[in-house]
Amino acid sequence: MNQNRTLKGGGNLQGIVKVPGDKSISHRALILGSIAKGETYIEGFLYSEDPLSTADCLRKLGVNIPEIIKNEPFKINGLGLDNFSEPSEILNCGNSGTTMRLLIGLLAASKDKNFILTGDKSLSERPMNRVCKPLRMMGGKLFGRENGNKAPITVVGEKLKGGVIGTPVASAQVKSAILLAGLNSSGSTSVIEPACSRDHTERMLKAFGADLKVRGELGRNIVINPGRDLIGQEILIPGDISSASFWMIAASIIPDSYIKIKNVGLNPTRTGILDVMDIMGCDYMISEQKTIAGEPIGDIEVRSTKSLNPFIIEGDILPKLIDEIPILSVAACFCEGISKIKDASELRVKETDRLKVMARQLRKFGAMIDEKEDGLIITGGSKFIAADVDSETDHRVAMSLAIASLLAKGTSNINRSEASNVSYPSFWNDLENLLNLN
Ligand code: S3P
Repeated sequence: MNQNRTLKGGGNLQGIVKVPGDKSISHRALILGSIAKGETYIEGFLYSEDPLSTADCLRKLGVNIPEIIKNEPFKINGLGLDNFSEPSEILNCGNSGTTMRLLIGLLAASKDKNFILTGDKSLSERPMNRVCKPLRMMGGKLFGRENGNKAPITVVGEKLKGGVIGTPVASAQVKSAILLAGLNSSGSTSVIEPACSRDHTERMLKAFGADLKVRGELGRNIVINPGRDLIGQEILIPGDISSASFWMIAASIIPDSYIKIKNVGLNPTRTGILDVMDIMGCDYMISEQKTIAGEPIGDIEVRSTKSLNPFIIEGDILPKLIDEIPILSVAACFCEGISKIKDASELRVKETDRLKVMARQLRKFGAMIDEKEDGLIITGGSKFIAADVDSETDHRVAMSLAIASLLAKGTSNINRSEASNVSYPSFWNDLENLLNLN
């Protein structure tokens, strides 16, 4: 059901917020817990549409995952590697690219079993050959629309052979799919990516006892050897920095704001937004830093800053802030000068074409944005006027437009605001709690 929400500009944001669990880690906790031996305890799981799609698919594969209750820890009794049952139903990955790509990798090596994976309208248009092609090089039999590129994807499980696989895109989903396939292939599998993408899979595989090594000075080469059992673990999932980023940027820009975000994951492959905030000259502080279950975490406090510098985002930093480009494009509108986002054509194959959609929606407020093939050029100093905008079904667009609405004069209308349920269902409640209207 389409949910329109109105938001009045002006006011400020004040308070403490605990953002929900990390989406990437939540998917991986379910997947590794399912193929491990013994019990995996999961706390801090993100109770939102995407990880729940992964849970649903794994149940259809025969994993005994209990009903997941929001904010309650739970346990999975793993099946061990290669013990999935052949499901009688199609695996529905919903809107979740991570679910589909990681499961394709995992199932490709399940010899003599057949699986069909599908998704919603957006996911069915997203490219799957980025995982299917390398898996085919390992002997995988994967079929789909448009030359095997689009869902529904059929996986005919095969005994795979490891090898050295260079991936043309720096994508953690691609890297993880290959590593998961490598767990159950003959010989070692080595993945080389062009830039370092998020490494939650590597960290968690190591914690579960996999024989995995990270090589190369930039950690772009990961080698996995099959043959070791994964053993169930206790996983404490930190808050998602991608969800925190809406508050980090909002508090930086909206005058007289102060927000403290508790328990945020600070894995260095995810903190590119902090580097950009440094360039912008944002006023933030990180405290209570510690490492929990192999992942660094901390509290982030942000105060508004009167004047913010423009920024350039390009090259190897992209994977470290890939999901933050929508909110950073809002930020750029309020910097003093011209900001540039380059090398970002990956944004065109996310839940929506985020370059096009952000340019189209932000222009409605009066933003000065030039859309390029691989990025955006944004002239700061905009005076936003309230507008009738649309998430176009993309969760990160919905939340970025909410922050943009707070910066606009008048009352804006956000269509299809429910898209936020994919990664941050309590976003609107948290916003209501933080917002003080003048
Ligand atoms: C994710 C990796 C990223 C990111 C997505 C989650 C993951 O995608 O955009 O939201 O959990 O591995 P790519 O790996 O395709 O860049």
